[in-house]
Amino acid sequence: MADTDVGAGYEVRDRVAIITLNAPPVNGLSQALRAGINDGLHRAHADDGVGAVVITGAGKMFCGGADINEFGSGEVTEPDVNNICAFMESMAKPVVAAIHGHALGGGMELALGCHFRIATKDAKIGFPEVTLGVLPGAGGTQRTPRLAGVAVALDLILSGRMIGAKDAQEYGLIDAVAQGDLLEDAIALALDATGRGEGLPTAKALPVKGADTAAETIAAALEKVLRRAPDAQAPKAIARCIEFAASGKDFEEGLKFERKEFLDLMNGTQSKALRHLFFAEKAAVKIPNLEKDLPLRQIERVGIIGAGTMGGGIAMNFLNAGMPVTLLEIAQDALDRGIEKIRSTYASNVEKGRITQAQMDTRMALLNGSTDYADMADRDLVIEAVFENMKIKQDVCATLGEVCKEGAIIATNTSTLDVDIIAEATGRPADVLGMHFFSPAHIMRLLEVVRGAKTAPDVLATVMQLARRINKVAVVSGVCYGFIGNRMLESYLREMDYLLMEGATPAQLDAALEGFGMAMGPCRMMDMAGIDVNAFVLDGREAEGALPDTPSYRALVRELGALGRNGQKAGKGYYKYDGRTPVEDPEVNRIAADLAAKFGIRRRNDITDAEICDRLLYPLINEGFKIMEEGIAYREGDIDVVWTAGYGWPPLTGGPMHLAETIGLAKLRDRLVELGKQTQDRFEFFTPAPLLSRRADEETSNPTEKSNA
Ligand code: 3HC
Ligand code: NAI
Repeated sequence: MADTDVGAGYEVRDRVAIITLNAPPVNGLSQALRAGINDGLHRAHADDGVGAVVITGAGKMFCGGADINEFGSGEVTEPDVNNICAFMESMAKPVVAAIHGHALGGGMELALGCHFRIATKDAKIGFPEVTLGVLPGAGGTQRTPRLAGVAVALDLILSGRMIGAKDAQEYGLIDAVAQGDLLEDAIALALDATGRGEGLPTAKALPVKGADTAAETIAAALEKVLRRAPDAQAPKAIARCIEFAASGKDFEEGLKFERKEFLDLMNGTQSKALRHLFFAEKAAVKIPNLEKDLPLRQIERVGIIGAGTMGGGIAMNFLNAGMPVTLLEIAQDALDRGIEKIRSTYASNVEKGRITQAQMDTRMALLNGSTDYADMADRDLVIEAVFENMKIKQDVCATLGEVCKEGAIIATNTSTLDVDIIAEATGRPADVLGMHFFSPAHIMRLLEVVRGAKTAPDVLATVMQLARRINKVAVVSGVCYGFIGNRMLESYLREMDYLLMEGATPAQLDAALEGFGMAMGPCRMMDMAGIDVNAFVLDGREAEGALPDTPSYRALVRELGALGRNGQKAGKGYYKYDGRTPVEDPEVNRIAADLAAKFGIRRRNDITDAEICDRLLYPLINEGFKIMEEGIAYREGDIDVVWTAGYGWPPLTGGPMHLAETIGLAKLRDRLVELGKQTQDRFEFFTPAPLLSRRADEETSNPTEKSNA
């Protein structure tokens, strides 16, 4: 946000001073904006011609909260929102917050310090601070339980979720929903309040609702959150602040308590990591060196080839966004099955109350099936999601190249094949790129957008923008085996099999990685993804001569595949399954021990959780440095987004590349060297990437202060 754009407008209309937050694009509460609001309030207070104040936001929202860029300074500068709220609460003239768009975090806290709040019907309010590893640090933890009660405060502040105006009014967080023009209604409310002749309401004067049962409510809510992220510090601090509010102590003491907790969090590594991810996600959609104002292609109608697992999931993304989809299959029965799967997924969503029947009907009405490629002729974008077989994909793409209209974009959902070869098959490679969705495609947030050697810039830019429309977090990857995510995953899975052959058990491996924070350990993950799928890819890569020249390479997964232990769907894989519950299977340890004997791998019983984490994670990060050096990813932050949005990597560490900085690059390099020695690294699995080595050297010779933002 450029400081020059920032300020608070001031005008008086009808004896009402209107203070307008003006700091595009989200009216973030930077120091300059806070100073502007403060000046406006003092001016209104001192002016006898002013009887009331309305605070409103310019542009598309009231306020997106504190300016997160300022968090790196380590302190909160004056005037802060607490000073502003204290002044408003002391004023004899009513102050009304007029909310449109969003009122989030510090923005909502500013509103809670006003005497009244009115919002448009479609306004959204919330406290997203927890998603940045902090808590509402300007009275949110103290005023919300007073206005809405302990349970609602916990729900909103611990989840960071946004609610609409209707719910906010029901909870007592806003006083009214505008029926006409927001500003006019806010002015009317302010003028009405001047005439009341009674004391003005303040949140701080209210008792905390639900204080008597607060201890149990807080314990239950916290337990639920910590089950998912036991190491997260912000939820615990939030609970302490709400507990303080409920304890009946002085409100001002509560603000001090909250501020200390806020500063501790803001200056901690978790918040730094989460802020890094917030900005990394925003940066990831930006394509460097793109011509300014490049016209984008219009995408409204979508075609999808293949109605299997991925095709159906991909289709739902577009249907959910209100875009018509034609799904094409080779045969009518496969098409019917694919469409039925989409219908039953939506029906189950209706049953669970996630969508309404009307929404389902609208979405299904946008869906058409076809077995005729001529139906692709009017599509703006066609995504192929047929079998992972180059010959089939080339045939399909050659047909698409002929039938698709000029300017249509053709995308492939391949996860392992060369996008450039597929692009050539269309005869129009400039129109082609990869759209690598993750399974289940209608749920997973990540979309890797693969730019081919000949992909036109406007095609890439169009798809990045489209990704946002279908609620995906998009990251650009260059062409290489596995793109960003699966390429890095390969080194992780490689060490998993070696460690199992050395004597670790699947349960031990999973516990170590889940202890680090991965959403799911590698063995459980492989069992869910399907051992056969992975073994099939490895066979293909071996045939191409693309695997390291050792039969021990990922030998266990291939052996499990050969034995039909295809994972959860087969009832056995790295584990055996009791329904969906994994149970340790001594048979797997025996298979691993046999392979170790066959390949001369020494069995050990001294494998620690720390070694497991280092051996799986450090080579994965090392691969990230190779990806950077080769220009496969634009930025290290892009890699972090891939892993946190697509692979269950713990966001509290900021992603693998951010974690590397936290560990220290020299330490990371040295540990890789040490692991290389320990494993007689014949295939250079642990050899530090040149970029990592250079950066580690720089770090050692020039230990500069790292940016805190
Ligand atoms: N501070 C600084 N920059 C912010 C920001 C913030 N709070 N919120 C958004 N931005 C920036 C984004 O980085 C982006 O920058 P770019 O154009 O350079 O990429 C730009 O504003 C536009 O953001 P979006 O693309 O996300 O805009 P949308 O219109 O899609 O969404 C939004 C708007 C819903 C406000 C969304 O940006 C958002 O959720 N922002 C974060 C809100 C938040 O977490 N607020 C709490 C801050 S912590 C706090 O308030 C502490 C307090 O309790 C003391
Ligand atoms: P799938 O086997 O479930 O579905 C493939 C579908 O394509 C089948 O319904 C088949 O009938 C259809 N098909 C095959 N040839 C066709 C043709 N010539 N014309 C029209 N339809 C045809 O496979 P899945 O899992 O959906 O995978 C599809 C693609 O998505 C593959 O390239 C795969 O690598 C990729 N992918 C798969 C992921 C997964 O987890 N399953 C994740 C990411 C990508």
